[in-house]
Amino acid sequence: MNSTTTIPIQNYALLDDAECEARIVAAKEKLGSRCIVLGHHYQRNEVFKHADITGDSLKLSREAAQSDAEYIVFCGVHFMAEVADILSRPEQIAILPDMAAGCSMADMANQVKVQKCWDELARVIDVENVVTPVTYINSAADLKAFCGKHDGIVCTSSNAEKILNWSFARKEKVLFFPDQHLGRNTGYSMGIPLEQMVTWDFTQPLGGLTEQQIRDAKIILWKGYCSVHQAFKPEHIDEFKKKYPETKVISHPEACFEVCQKSDYIGSTENILKIVREAEPNTRWLVATELNLVNRLHEECQAEGKNVHFMAPTLSMCSTMFRTDSQHLAWVLENLVEGHVVNQISVPAEEAALAKKALDNMLQAS
Ligand code: 13P
Ligand code: SF4
Repeated sequence: MNSTTTIPIQNYALLDDAECEARIVAAKEKLGSRCIVLGHHYQRNEVFKHADITGDSLKLSREAAQSDAEYIVFCGVHFMAEVADILSRPEQIAILPDMAAGCSMADMANQVKVQKCWDELARVIDVENVVTPVTYINSAADLKAFCGKHDGIVCTSSNAEKILNWSFARKEKVLFFPDQHLGRNTGYSMGIPLEQMVTWDFTQPLGGLTEQQIRDAKIILWKGYCSVHQAFKPEHIDEFKKKYPETKVISHPEACFEVCQKSDYIGSTENILKIVREAEPNTRWLVATELNLVNRLHEECQAEGKNVHFMAPTLSMCSTMFRTDSQHLAWVLENLVEGHVVNQISVPAEEAALAKKALDNMLQAS
Protein backbone atom coordinates (compact mmCIF):
# COMPACT_ATOMS: atom_id res chain seq x y z
CA MET A 1 0.00 0.00 0.00
CA ASN A 2 1.25 3.51 -0.77
CA SER A 3 2.25 5.69 2.20
CA THR A 4 -0.01 8.67 2.87
CA THR A 5 2.79 11.06 3.77
CA THR A 6 5.93 12.06 1.94
CA ILE A 7 9.05 10.12 2.90
CA PRO A 8 11.45 12.64 4.50
CA ILE A 9 14.96 13.18 3.09
CA GLN A 10 16.37 12.54 6.59
CA ASN A 11 15.60 8.84 6.10
CA TYR A 12 18.30 8.75 3.43
CA ALA A 13 21.08 10.57 5.27
CA LEU A 14 22.72 7.41 6.59
CA LEU A 15 22.35 5.28 3.46
CA ASP A 16 25.58 4.57 1.65
CA ASP A 17 25.91 4.86 -2.13
CA ALA A 18 25.66 1.09 -2.71
CA GLU A 19 22.38 0.90 -0.82
CA CYS A 20 21.06 3.96 -2.68
CA GLU A 21 22.08 2.41 -5.98
CA ALA A 22 20.01 -0.73 -5.35
CA ARG A 23 17.03 1.37 -4.27
CA ILE A 24 17.30 3.70 -7.29
CA VAL A 25 17.39 0.73 -9.65
CA ALA A 26 14.36 -0.85 -7.93
CA ALA A 27 12.38 2.42 -7.94
CA LYS A 28 13.14 3.04 -11.61
CA GLU A 29 12.01 -0.45 -12.45
CA LYS A 30 8.70 0.10 -10.66
CA LEU A 31 8.13 3.47 -12.33
CA GLY A 32 9.04 2.15 -15.78
CA SER A 33 8.22 4.48 -18.67
CA ARG A 34 6.30 6.84 -16.34
CA CYS A 35 9.63 8.36 -15.33
CA ILE A 36 12.68 9.53 -17.25
CA VAL A 37 15.96 10.53 -15.59
CA LEU A 38 17.99 13.12 -17.49
CA GLY A 39 21.63 13.59 -16.52
CA HIS A 40 23.98 16.44 -17.35
CA HIS A 41 27.60 15.51 -18.10
CA TYR A 42 28.85 17.22 -14.91
CA GLN A 43 26.95 14.89 -12.60
CA ARG A 44 28.95 12.69 -10.27
CA ASN A 45 29.29 9.01 -11.25
CA GLU A 46 26.90 7.63 -8.62
CA VAL A 47 24.12 9.73 -10.17
CA PHE A 48 25.21 9.85 -13.81
CA LYS A 49 25.04 6.06 -14.17
CA HIS A 50 21.27 6.14 -13.52
CA ALA A 51 20.47 8.65 -16.26
CA ASP A 52 18.30 7.31 -19.10
CA ILE A 53 19.64 10.10 -21.30
CA THR A 54 22.80 12.15 -20.82
CA GLY A 55 23.76 15.28 -22.66
CA ASP A 56 24.57 18.97 -22.80
CA SER A 57 21.95 21.65 -22.20
CA LEU A 58 20.67 21.69 -25.79
CA LYS A 59 20.32 17.92 -26.08
CA LEU A 60 18.62 17.63 -22.70
CA SER A 61 16.20 20.50 -23.53
CA ARG A 62 15.20 18.66 -26.69
CA GLU A 63 14.78 15.41 -24.77
CA ALA A 64 12.60 17.16 -22.20
CA ALA A 65 10.44 18.62 -24.98
CA GLN A 66 10.01 15.23 -26.67
CA SER A 67 9.56 13.03 -23.63
CA ASP A 68 6.26 11.25 -22.98
CA ALA A 69 7.12 10.44 -19.37
CA GLU A 70 4.85 11.60 -16.58
CA TYR A 71 7.88 12.56 -14.44
CA ILE A 72 11.07 14.18 -15.73
CA VAL A 73 13.73 13.87 -13.02
CA PHE A 74 16.49 16.30 -13.93
CA CYS A 75 19.91 15.51 -12.52
CA GLY A 76 21.44 18.86 -13.33
CA VAL A 77 20.85 22.37 -12.02
CA HIS A 78 17.79 24.52 -11.40
CA PHE A 79 17.60 26.33 -14.75
CA MET A 80 17.69 22.98 -16.57
CA ALA A 81 14.69 21.64 -14.63
CA GLU A 82 12.87 24.93 -15.33
CA VAL A 83 13.48 24.43 -19.06
CA ALA A 84 12.14 20.87 -18.77
CA ASP A 85 9.00 22.22 -17.09
CA ILE A 86 8.51 24.96 -19.70
CA LEU A 87 9.02 22.69 -22.72
CA SER A 88 7.06 19.67 -21.48
CA ARG A 89 3.29 19.30 -21.56
CA PRO A 90 1.31 20.83 -18.64
CA GLU A 91 0.49 17.44 -17.09
CA GLN A 92 4.15 16.39 -17.01
CA ILE A 93 6.09 17.04 -13.83
CA ALA A 94 9.71 18.24 -13.70
CA ILE A 95 11.69 17.34 -10.59
CA LEU A 96 15.07 18.57 -9.32
CA PRO A 97 16.47 16.10 -6.74
CA ASP A 98 18.20 18.83 -4.68
CA MET A 99 16.60 22.28 -4.69
CA ALA A 100 19.93 23.87 -3.73
CA ALA A 101 21.46 22.84 -7.07
CA GLY A 102 21.60 26.27 -8.69
CA CYS A 103 24.13 27.90 -11.03
CA SER A 104 26.27 30.76 -9.72
CA MET A 105 26.64 32.17 -13.22
CA ALA A 106 22.88 32.19 -13.78
CA ASP A 107 22.57 34.14 -10.51
CA MET A 108 24.82 36.91 -11.87
CA ALA A 109 21.92 38.31 -13.88
CA ASN A 110 18.41 38.89 -12.64
CA GLN A 111 15.29 40.55 -13.94
CA VAL A 112 15.75 43.81 -12.01
CA LYS A 113 19.33 44.28 -13.23
CA VAL A 114 18.56 43.31 -16.82
CA GLN A 115 15.50 45.58 -16.95
CA LYS A 116 17.63 48.43 -15.55
CA CYS A 117 20.22 47.77 -18.25
CA TRP A 118 17.49 47.75 -20.94
CA ASP A 119 16.07 51.05 -19.63
CA GLU A 120 19.51 52.65 -19.52
CA LEU A 121 20.29 51.49 -23.05
CA ALA A 122 16.96 52.98 -24.15
CA ARG A 123 18.26 56.42 -23.16
CA VAL A 124 21.07 56.07 -25.72
CA ILE A 125 19.71 53.88 -28.54
CA ASP A 126 16.32 52.81 -29.87
CA VAL A 127 16.62 49.62 -27.89
CA GLU A 128 13.40 47.87 -29.01
CA ASN A 129 14.26 48.33 -32.67
CA VAL A 130 18.01 47.75 -32.67
CA VAL A 131 18.75 45.23 -29.88
CA THR A 132 17.93 41.52 -29.63
CA PRO A 133 18.23 40.21 -26.07
CA VAL A 134 19.95 36.81 -26.03
CA THR A 135 20.09 34.84 -22.84
CA TYR A 136 22.35 31.86 -22.31
CA ILE A 137 20.21 28.94 -21.18
CA ASN A 138 22.10 29.23 -17.87
CA SER A 139 19.63 31.81 -16.59
CA ALA A 140 16.41 31.92 -14.59
CA ALA A 141 13.06 31.49 -16.34
CA ASP A 142 12.13 35.15 -15.82
CA LEU A 143 15.10 36.21 -17.97
CA LYS A 144 14.03 33.81 -20.69
CA ALA A 145 10.59 35.42 -20.37
CA PHE A 146 12.23 38.85 -20.74
CA CYS A 147 13.74 37.64 -24.01
CA GLY A 148 10.38 36.21 -25.13
CA LYS A 149 8.75 39.57 -24.43
CA HIS A 150 11.36 41.54 -26.40
CA ASP A 151 11.56 39.27 -29.49
CA GLY A 152 14.71 37.69 -28.16
CA ILE A 153 16.03 34.18 -27.94
CA VAL A 154 17.84 31.65 -25.77
CA CYS A 155 21.17 30.04 -26.69
CA THR A 156 23.28 27.20 -25.38
CA SER A 157 27.00 26.55 -25.63
CA SER A 158 26.43 24.38 -28.71
CA ASN A 159 24.27 26.70 -30.80
CA ALA A 160 25.49 30.20 -29.84
CA GLU A 161 26.79 31.03 -33.34
CA LYS A 162 23.50 30.05 -35.01
CA ILE A 163 21.61 32.09 -32.45
CA LEU A 164 23.79 35.18 -32.98
CA ASN A 165 23.27 34.82 -36.74
CA TRP A 166 19.51 34.58 -36.16
CA SER A 167 19.69 37.73 -34.04
CA PHE A 168 21.81 39.77 -36.46
CA ALA A 169 19.47 38.83 -39.32
CA ARG A 170 16.78 40.74 -37.40
CA LYS A 171 18.48 43.60 -35.57
CA GLU A 172 21.89 45.22 -35.58
CA LYS A 173 22.91 44.68 -31.93
CA VAL A 174 22.72 41.97 -29.29
CA LEU A 175 22.52 42.24 -25.51
CA PHE A 176 24.04 38.94 -24.36
CA PHE A 177 23.67 37.68 -20.77
CA PRO A 178 24.78 36.37 -18.34
CA ASP A 179 28.07 34.85 -19.63
CA GLN A 180 30.47 37.35 -21.16
CA HIS A 181 32.87 34.58 -22.25
CA LEU A 182 30.43 32.55 -24.33
CA GLY A 183 29.30 35.77 -26.01
CA ARG A 184 32.82 37.07 -26.66
CA ASN A 185 34.28 33.74 -27.82
CA THR A 186 31.37 33.17 -30.19
CA GLY A 187 31.27 36.72 -31.52
CA TYR A 188 35.01 36.69 -32.19
CA SER A 189 34.84 33.36 -34.02
CA MET A 190 32.20 34.99 -36.27
CA GLY A 191 34.59 37.82 -37.12
CA ILE A 192 33.29 40.51 -34.77
CA PRO A 193 36.28 42.57 -33.52
CA LEU A 194 36.83 42.73 -29.75
CA GLU A 195 36.31 46.53 -29.76
CA GLN A 196 32.74 45.99 -30.97
CA MET A 197 31.99 43.70 -28.02
CA VAL A 198 31.75 45.84 -24.90
CA THR A 199 31.25 44.57 -21.36
CA TRP A 200 28.27 45.81 -19.38
CA ASP A 201 29.31 46.13 -15.72
CA PHE A 202 25.96 45.88 -13.97
CA THR A 203 27.35 47.56 -10.85
CA GLN A 204 28.11 50.80 -12.74
CA PRO A 205 25.83 53.52 -14.15
CA LEU A 206 25.37 52.88 -17.88
CA GLY A 207 27.28 49.63 -17.41
CA GLY A 208 30.52 51.61 -17.03
CA LEU A 209 30.36 52.49 -20.76
CA THR A 210 30.23 55.74 -22.67
CA GLU A 211 27.27 56.53 -24.93
CA GLN A 212 29.60 56.27 -27.92
CA GLN A 213 30.79 52.80 -26.90
CA ILE A 214 27.16 51.69 -26.76
CA ARG A 215 26.37 53.21 -30.16
CA ASP A 216 29.43 51.52 -31.72
CA ALA A 217 28.90 48.09 -30.10
CA LYS A 218 27.67 45.05 -31.97
CA ILE A 219 27.40 42.91 -28.82
CA ILE A 220 26.89 44.19 -25.29
CA LEU A 221 28.21 41.46 -22.99
CA TRP A 222 26.90 41.07 -19.46
CA LYS A 223 29.79 40.89 -16.98
CA GLY A 224 28.95 37.38 -15.76
CA TYR A 225 31.16 34.32 -15.70
CA CYS A 226 31.36 30.74 -14.48
CA SER A 227 33.66 30.34 -11.50
CA VAL A 228 34.49 26.77 -12.52
CA HIS A 229 35.67 27.78 -16.00
CA GLN A 230 37.32 30.95 -14.67
CA ALA A 231 39.92 28.67 -13.06
CA PHE A 232 41.48 27.81 -16.43
CA LYS A 233 44.34 30.12 -17.48
CA PRO A 234 46.41 30.41 -20.66
CA GLU A 235 49.59 29.72 -18.65
CA HIS A 236 48.20 26.27 -17.73
CA ILE A 237 48.26 25.44 -21.43
CA ASP A 238 51.79 26.82 -21.88
CA GLU A 239 53.14 24.89 -18.89
CA PHE A 240 51.52 21.63 -19.94
CA LYS A 241 52.72 21.93 -23.52
CA LYS A 242 56.32 22.40 -22.36
CA LYS A 243 56.14 18.83 -21.08
CA TYR A 244 53.82 17.36 -23.75
CA PRO A 245 54.08 19.53 -26.90
CA GLU A 246 51.90 17.16 -28.94
CA THR A 247 48.87 17.84 -26.70
CA LYS A 248 45.56 18.88 -28.24
CA VAL A 249 43.67 21.46 -26.23
CA ILE A 250 39.90 21.58 -26.04
CA SER A 251 37.88 24.12 -24.06
CA HIS A 252 34.30 24.87 -23.16
CA PRO A 253 33.30 28.33 -24.47
CA GLU A 254 32.67 29.47 -20.88
CA ALA A 255 36.47 29.55 -20.52
CA CYS A 256 38.01 33.00 -20.99
CA PHE A 257 39.00 34.44 -24.39
CA GLU A 258 42.76 33.89 -23.88
CA VAL A 259 42.24 30.19 -23.05
CA CYS A 260 39.91 29.67 -26.01
CA GLN A 261 42.37 31.42 -28.34
CA LYS A 262 45.08 28.95 -27.30
CA SER A 263 42.77 25.94 -27.77
CA ASP A 264 42.63 23.66 -30.81
CA TYR A 265 38.90 23.11 -30.32
CA ILE A 266 36.08 24.89 -28.51
CA GLY A 267 32.90 22.98 -27.72
CA SER A 268 29.94 22.29 -25.49
CA THR A 269 30.20 19.36 -23.08
CA GLU A 270 28.59 17.04 -25.65
CA ASN A 271 30.98 18.23 -28.38
CA ILE A 272 34.04 17.86 -26.15
CA LEU A 273 33.07 14.23 -25.57
CA LYS A 274 32.45 13.64 -29.27
CA ILE A 275 35.73 15.19 -30.44
CA VAL A 276 37.92 13.33 -27.93
CA ARG A 277 36.08 10.03 -28.44
CA GLU A 278 36.49 10.27 -32.22
CA ALA A 279 40.17 11.32 -32.04
CA GLU A 280 43.03 9.03 -33.06
CA PRO A 281 44.19 6.51 -30.44
CA ASN A 282 47.30 7.38 -28.39
CA THR A 283 46.58 11.11 -28.36
CA ARG A 284 46.87 13.45 -25.40
CA TRP A 285 44.18 15.98 -24.48
CA LEU A 286 44.10 18.94 -22.14
CA VAL A 287 40.50 19.80 -21.34
CA ALA A 288 39.03 23.01 -19.90
CA THR A 289 35.74 21.94 -18.41
CA GLU A 290 34.34 20.41 -15.25
CA LEU A 291 36.22 17.67 -13.44
CA ASN A 292 33.59 14.90 -13.38
CA LEU A 293 33.32 14.98 -17.16
CA VAL A 294 37.10 15.02 -17.63
CA ASN A 295 37.71 12.14 -15.20
CA ARG A 296 35.02 9.98 -16.83
CA LEU A 297 36.35 10.73 -20.31
CA HIS A 298 39.87 9.78 -19.21
CA GLU A 299 38.65 6.46 -17.80
CA GLU A 300 36.68 5.74 -20.94
CA CYS A 301 39.50 6.55 -23.38
CA GLN A 302 42.41 4.95 -21.53
CA ALA A 303 41.94 1.62 -23.30
CA GLU A 304 42.74 3.35 -26.61
CA GLY A 305 45.89 4.84 -25.13
CA LYS A 306 44.35 8.33 -24.94
CA ASN A 307 45.30 10.52 -22.02
CA VAL A 308 42.78 13.13 -20.99
CA HIS A 309 43.95 15.76 -18.51
CA PHE A 310 42.14 18.45 -16.53
CA MET A 311 43.54 21.87 -17.41
CA ALA A 312 43.84 23.58 -14.01
CA PRO A 313 46.41 22.54 -11.38
CA THR A 314 43.76 22.86 -8.66
CA LEU A 315 40.75 20.61 -8.97
CA SER A 316 37.58 22.59 -9.49
CA MET A 317 34.24 20.90 -9.81
CA CYS A 318 30.85 22.54 -10.08
CA SER A 319 29.73 22.50 -6.46
CA THR A 320 26.07 22.96 -7.35
CA MET A 321 26.04 20.12 -9.90
CA PHE A 322 27.74 18.08 -7.18
CA ARG A 323 24.86 18.64 -4.77
CA THR A 324 22.77 15.99 -6.48
CA ASP A 325 23.83 12.75 -4.82
CA SER A 326 22.45 9.23 -4.88
CA GLN A 327 20.62 9.88 -1.59
CA HIS A 328 18.56 12.69 -3.15
CA LEU A 329 17.92 10.69 -6.31
CA ALA A 330 16.73 7.67 -4.29
CA TRP A 331 14.55 10.00 -2.20
CA VAL A 332 12.70 11.59 -5.15
CA LEU A 333 12.25 8.27 -6.97
CA GLU A 334 10.99 6.32 -3.96
CA ASN A 335 8.54 9.13 -3.21
CA LEU A 336 7.23 8.86 -6.78
CA VAL A 337 6.78 5.11 -6.30
CA GLU A 338 4.70 5.95 -3.21
CA GLY A 339 2.66 8.46 -5.19
CA HIS A 340 4.32 11.61 -3.79
CA VAL A 341 5.93 14.33 -5.85
CA VAL A 342 8.78 16.05 -4.02
CA ASN A 343 10.90 18.93 -5.36
CA GLN A 344 8.68 19.78 -8.29
CA ILE A 345 9.90 22.69 -10.42
CA SER A 346 6.98 24.69 -11.67
CA VAL A 347 7.38 27.94 -13.59
CA PRO A 348 4.36 30.31 -13.28
CA ALA A 349 2.15 30.06 -16.40
CA GLU A 350 2.54 33.62 -17.72
CA GLU A 351 6.32 33.57 -17.30
CA ALA A 352 6.51 30.08 -18.81
CA ALA A 353 4.56 31.15 -21.91
CA LEU A 354 6.95 34.05 -22.61
CA ALA A 355 10.03 31.97 -21.81
CA LYS A 356 8.73 29.26 -24.16
CA LYS A 357 8.61 31.82 -26.97
CA ALA A 358 12.33 32.47 -26.57
CA LEU A 359 13.10 28.75 -26.19
CA ASP A 360 11.02 27.86 -29.26
CA ASN A 361 12.89 30.52 -31.23
CA MET A 362 16.10 28.74 -30.19
CA LEU A 363 14.87 25.24 -31.02
CA GLN A 364 13.74 26.41 -34.46
CA ALA A 365 16.97 28.28 -35.16
CA SER A 366 19.33 25.49 -34.11
P1 13P B 1 26.71 22.53 -21.81
O1 13P B 1 25.44 22.98 -22.43
O2 13P B 1 27.88 22.61 -22.72
O3 13P B 1 26.55 21.15 -21.22
O4 13P B 1 27.07 23.52 -20.63
C1 13P B 1 26.30 23.69 -19.50
C2 13P B 1 27.06 24.27 -18.41
O5 13P B 1 26.54 24.70 -17.42
C3 13P B 1 28.49 24.40 -18.58
O6 13P B 1 29.05 24.99 -17.46
FE1 SF4 C 1 26.78 27.07 -13.73
FE2 SF4 C 1 29.42 26.98 -14.07
FE3 SF4 C 1 28.21 25.01 -12.77
FE4 SF4 C 1 27.89 25.29 -15.42
S1 SF4 C 1 29.77 24.80 -14.33
S2 SF4 C 1 26.28 24.89 -13.92
S3 SF4 C 1 27.90 27.54 -15.60
S4 SF4 C 1 28.34 27.18 -12.12
